[in-house]
Amino acid sequence: MKNIYEPEYVKQLFNQMSSSYERVNYITSFGFSIRWRKQFLNKLGKSAEKLNVLDIMSGLGENWVHLKTNFPNACFTVLDFSEQMIINSKLKANRVFGNNTEIMCANVLQSGLPDNNYDIVSCAFGLKTFNEEQFNLLAKEINRILKPGGKFTFVEVSTPDNKILSFFYSFYVGKVIPIFGKVFLGNPEDYKMLWIYTSNFKNSKKIKTIFESHGLNVNYSDYFFGCASGINGNKYK
Ligand SMILES: C[S@@+](CC[C@H](N)C(=O)[O-])C[C@H]1O[C@@H](n2cnc3c(N)ncnc32)[C@H](O)[C@@H]1O
Repeated sequence: MKNIYEPEYVKQLFNQMSSSYERVNYITSFGFSIRWRKQFLNKLGKSAEKLNVLDIMSGLGENWVHLKTNFPNACFTVLDFSEQMIINSKLKANRVFGNNTEIMCANVLQSGLPDNNYDIVSCAFGLKTFNEEQFNLLAKEINRILKPGGKFTFVEVSTPDNKILSFFYSFYVGKVIPIFGKVFLGNPEDYKMLWIYTSNFKNSKKIKTIFESHGLNVNYSDYFFGCASGINGNKYK
């Protein structure tokens, strides 16, 4: 049986989805992804200082306009391991950040990013394709690359606890999404995979515990009654 958490498998999936991903994201989050993105990034506050900001699992750069607005004078690094996502986001990176950006095509779990270097790390919708061992590696990496006092924020689509919401959610996911998948994607199987990852992921509660066990200060948040969840916090000084 294939291991759906194998990096090569995940990378291939996102390479295939790169041209349709923005639409997929919007549809699979009921159009809420834009709002959640704003809310989870606002947890970082704003600063006009020349900070080092890192956006990991950056996809097509969906976080970037908001990050640039909140951190107008920062030096930005963006990282994704899908070659197609990187190729398709380069124009946007130049448009939003100008020359002030480093674009990295690498696995975030073995990136070689420098120790104690970043004031800010952000990540939207990148958690679900990791298993427990990989969450531990991720937490270790975030603790390593953040400066003391540096902040992080993550958000991921999740499965709500509320039974009524959960009923509509499963209907939407099980019946409606596959129809959208056929219309918008060449390969509806990719679409289904995103939902297998999401239902395995459930929510960010266990991520909070894992990040804490690696010495980070962590808060948990639900977005829209748990249809998305996330963590934010900082590395201790
Ligand atoms: C669901 S997309 C999210 C894209 C974007 N951050 C957004 O807000 O919509 C997840 C992205 O994470 C990338 N990714 C997944 N695992 C990764 C890893 N281990 N290292 C680097 N990038 C990874 C994928 O290639 C994909 O572009």
